[in-house]
Amino acid sequence: MRFLVTAGPTREHIDPVRFLSNPSTGKMGFAVARAAAKAGHEVVLVSGPVALDAPRGVRRVDVVSARDMLAAVLDELPKADVLVMTAAVADWRPARTAAKKLKKSEMKPVIELVRNPDILRTVRKSLGASRAEKVIVGFAAETGEPTAEAARTCREKGLDLVVANDVTAKGAGFGTDTNVASFVSPDGSVERLPLMSKDALAARIVKRAVLWYTCRNTNSGT
Ligand code: PMT
Repeated sequence: MRFLVTAGPTREHIDPVRFLSNPSTGKMGFAVARAAAKAGHEVVLVSGPVALDAPRGVRRVDVVSARDMLAAVLDELPKADVLVMTAAVADWRPARTAAKKLKKSEMKPVIELVRNPDILRTVRKSLGASRAEKVIVGFAAETGEPTAEAARTCREKGLDLVVANDVTAKGAGFGTDTNVASFVSPDGSVERLPLMSKDALAARIVKRAVLWYTCRNTNSGT
């Protein structure tokens, strides 16, 4: 099977030396790419700026902004069976990006922002009827009890599964080698997982996606 995985943060530049971003290190997304490759799948990893080497056997596409990530995902999507959106995509970007470094005297204390495109929603629209042929997994970064919000994300973005993580919990979220996650399905059912390494969680995500894909394709043929 062919996996398309996104990882890391996006950067939304104010000028060449200043940007808006978030603390994602790419560890979770790289773990998903590694687990999929280890299980024998073809993997494309679209990554924001991170300090990690691509896992062995994975084709990496580097991007900077949310709009770059959207373009790369739309480009790779037709060839993918499974999309796993692990990236922490910035929801907003500065309305204007200066081509040259701004002098302090040129800067205002308020930055005007505009919405970035939502990659998952755009993917859903672009696929149309062929959406049913793919498995799409999203993540939900929550601060607190994650599952109610995650179920909403799952339904609204038309996902097969949301991996919800409380990024304020000990050993979970940004930059850690471990995570505490729940699998949330569109019908609102929740499977709570214990603290485990990101590699172990990634292996479970890959297994779940493969199972889903296999069931769907088997059923559609009968
Ligand atoms: O990289 P690490 O340091 O290992 O950290 C891992 C992580 C905390 C970044 C990861 O586990 C995680 O939670 N990733 C999702 C972060 C996030 O952006 O969550 P969200 O609730 O804002 O977004 C929900 C989903 O929509 C995500 O799948 C996201 O990729 C997607 N999204 C968000 C915004 C946007 N404009 N387009 C999107 O497609």
